[in-house]
Amino acid sequence: MEVGLTPGDLDRFQRSLERCLADATFASRFYARFLLANEEIAEKFANTDLKTQGTVLKRSLYLVMRAAHGLEDGLDHLERIAESHSHRKLAIPAHHYGIWLDTLILVMRETEPAYEDGLEELWRAVFQPCIDRMVGASGS
Ligand code: HEM
Repeated sequence: MEVGLTPGDLDRFQRSLERCLADATFASRFYARFLLANEEIAEKFANTDLKTQGTVLKRSLYLVMRAAHGLEDGLDHLERIAESHSHRKLAIPAHHYGIWLDTLILVMRETEPAYEDGLEELWRAVFQPCIDRMVGASGS
């Protein structure tokens, strides 16, 4: 998976991600907004314990970052979540991923204590190829 980012970009992204995740409310605010975004999304999470899901999101964001670095454990993780989100299992439609990323960016912008120009574009550049990979794997 090619993300076209320099090691400097990835380092800047990692420091931003860590500042956001240092805020204990980051994940719960993400899910609160994501579930409110549309009814179909709320239905997907109807049987989910959102307290545990917060830890899942945090771990997952780190692993996506490792995938963006091209590291094996991150890429393996991405393969697994691509499969679990595909039409064969969770059946997440492609348009939900845009909402997922827009929500993540919104919560990042309100959380990031050192927000500056270019950070939103950087976060998008890290996550978009991962999303393309997941949507591509869905086969729907
Ligand atoms: C790049 C974007 C995303 C990442 C990295 C991600 C990551 C994960 C991970 C790691 C899990 C738990 C393990 C697994 O089931 O594989 C999970 C579960 C889940 N995700 Fe995602 N996800 C993403 C996008 C989405 C979107 C767009 C939806 C749309 C509704 C969604 C809905 C769910 C649901 C319903 C679960 C199951 C929760 C449960 O176990 O009850 N995810 N996600």
